[in-house]
Amino acid sequence: MLGTLSAFDFFYLVLEWPGSYCDAATSCCYPQSGKPASDFSIHGLWPNNLDGSYPENCDPSRPFNASQIGGLRGDMDALWSSLSCPSSNSEKFWAHEWEKHGTCSEKILRSQRDYFAAALRLRKSVDLLGALEQAGISPDGKSYALSLIKNALQDGGYAPGITCNADDDDSGSSQLYQIYLCVSKENLEITPCPVLPRSSCHSRVEFPLF
Ligand SMILES: *[C@@H]1O[C@H](CO)[C@@H](O)[C@H](O)[C@H]1NC(C)=O
Repeated sequence: MLGTLSAFDFFYLVLEWPGSYCDAATSCCYPQSGKPASDFSIHGLWPNNLDGSYPENCDPSRPFNASQIGGLRGDMDALWSSLSCPSSNSEKFWAHEWEKHGTCSEKILRSQRDYFAAALRLRKSVDLLGALEQAGISPDGKSYALSLIKNALQDGGYAPGITCNADDDDSGSSQLYQIYLCVSKENLEITPCPVLPRSSCHSRVEFPLF
C-alpha cells in the first residue's frame, strides 16, 4: 500500500443541522469556542465512488497536525466545530475527519491545510438555510413535508441527499439531520450528485430549534 494514492470519483460535502444533532439520544455539548451559529455546519468532505463505496484511512503516516491549520482556526471553530460530549476544542473531530477522509483526498487536496480550507470555502459558498427560509421553512421545531424541503432546496439550486435522525422524545419523529452536497474533484465546485445516500427520512420531518 505504500505510496498508493486512493482513487475516487467525487466528494460529498456533508453538512449537518446542529439542532438535530443535539435533539437526539446522544446529547450534545457546545464546543469550548462557544455555541455555534444556528446554521448548517460541516460534518466532513468525503471522497466517494460512483458505486457508493468510499476509500477510508488511506495514509496512517500523515496524522492530523493542528499547527498546519493555524490560520483557519476561526473559521473552523465557527463552521466545523464538534458538538460531542464532553465539550472539546474540536481537534479530535478534525483529526478523525482528516485521518478517515482527508488522507484519501491527497490526489486533489495535497495538504491538511488545502483539505480543510476547501471544505470551509465550499460551506461558505452555499446558503441552505436561506433557500429553506425563502420557502417559509425555518428551524422552529415544527414539521415540514420532506417534498417541500426538497423543492425549496431545488429552487435554491441544490439537489442534495437528505438524511434524518430520530427525535429523542419517543415520538419517533424524524428530524432534518444531514445534507449531502456533491463536489466535483475536477474543479472543486458544487455539482449535481451522481449518486445519493439512502434517505432515512419520513415523509414529514421536524426542523428543530438550535
Ligand atoms: C506539525 O506541523 C508543524 C508545522 O509544520 C511541525 O513543525 C511539527 O513537527 C508537526 N508535528 C508533528 C507531530 O508532525
